[in-house]
Amino acid sequence: MPGEAVEPGMSASRGDLLDVVLEALPASILVLDRGGRIVMANRHFLGHVGRTLREVSGLSAWDHLPRALVEVARLSEKLDALFRTGASLPGERVSFRGPALSTRIFWYRLVRASPAGSGDRALLILDDVTAQERASQDVRQALRAQRLAALGGFVAGVAHELRNPLAIASSAAQLLEDGGLSPEEEAACLRRVRIGILRADSIIQALAGLTPRSAPQQRERLSVAALLVASCSWVEEMAVDQGIRLIRSVPQEPLAVEGIRDSLEQAVFALLLNAVQAMPRGGDLRATVREEGAEAVIRVEDSGHGIAPDVVERVFDPFFTTRPPGENQGLGLSLAYAAVTGHGGTLTVESGPGRGTVATVRLPLAPDDGGAAPGSGESVP
Ligand SMILES: Nc1ncnc2c1ncn2[C@@H]1O[C@H](COP(=O)(O)OP(=O)(O)OP(=O)(O)O)[C@@H](O)[C@H]1O
Ligand SMILES: [Mg+2]
Repeated sequence: MPGEAVEPGMSASRGDLLDVVLEALPASILVLDRGGRIVMANRHFLGHVGRTLREVSGLSAWDHLPRALVEVARLSEKLDALFRTGASLPGERVSFRGPALSTRIFWYRLVRASPAGSGDRALLILDDVTAQERASQDVRQALRAQRLAALGGFVAGVAHELRNPLAIASSAAQLLEDGGLSPEEEAACLRRVRIGILRADSIIQALAGLTPRSAPQQRERLSVAALLVASCSWVEEMAVDQGIRLIRSVPQEPLAVEGIRDSLEQAVFALLLNAVQAMPRGGDLRATVREEGAEAVIRVEDSGHGIAPDVVERVFDPFFTTRPPGENQGLGLSLAYAAVTGHGGTLTVESGPGRGTVATVRLPLAPDDGGAAPGSGESVP
């Protein structure tokens, strides 16, 4: 059968090669004459209709394709138009109802193909893309559901976090309104109103950090090495108290990035703090800075309890926390993520239960200014 596919006028080796290609393609390919009769068909098509090339040669292609497809795509009219005008049509996607009333989706293309001495021929390429389309629809739907669920969780988190401070402020205000309080009690109530409002405000401030800042903040040339040293100093005491060995490895070179100091220091601090909190009974905390290609890479690695696979997927969700209620807001990693990506970098977390956690920040290095280095780095202590 492969020999039958070779069109006249082609060199044998090229024809052989095309044969192999046609037979291997996971789509139906038919060579048709002006009347839509089958001149050649590849293995995929023949396998589909369960016939040999000899059996279908000279028969109408339209009788061997899904009727609804032939009608909806108007294949017969398009073939006529193709021979009339000579202009091949671009590929088209068509969906139609199959026999079991299920929707099927095909991609097809009609191309004029008339090699010398072979008369008028057209090539019909057909691909059943129903499964791929369904899969991508399913993926899109799953992603949409995931986004909605994340948004729902986020809103619930905001509501939950704001409710407590507002309740404190409002109950204290109620007491003031009811009257009959001693001056000391009044002062205490006013303090609670103020604390409640300040707490709510701090939550709103934190939320604002999740979105790109409206007022552009001053970026400066920063040393990532110095940044890690500063952030480490904030957790040093806590680490010592918990019996954690803090192993810092920072290069001599400062590794300069353009950025907002506070925001990046906070981000690295959040990673270090999580690492410390993961090792209540001590362990090793390695904090390193390295140059890798055009990036400065900060790695914070702990030997703590690690993160379960279903949890690791959610660690960047705002308000997601596994810690006891009231202790943490679950904003550390989401704010760090917003800060790092806001600097054109990436933040990833790799972990598994019982095997510690590695958080990696990659930041694009600033172009070499050929001048003085920003802040000095520190060598390995
Ligand atoms: N190094 C780590 N080891 C183990 N679990 C971690 C680590 N880092 C993050 N996690 C998990 O990810 C969750 C989310 O971390 P994230 O820093 O965003 O919030 P949090 O630490 O719970 O609260 P916050 O940072 O606002 O005080 C944590 O509750 C914890 O379950
Ligand atoms: Mg945290």
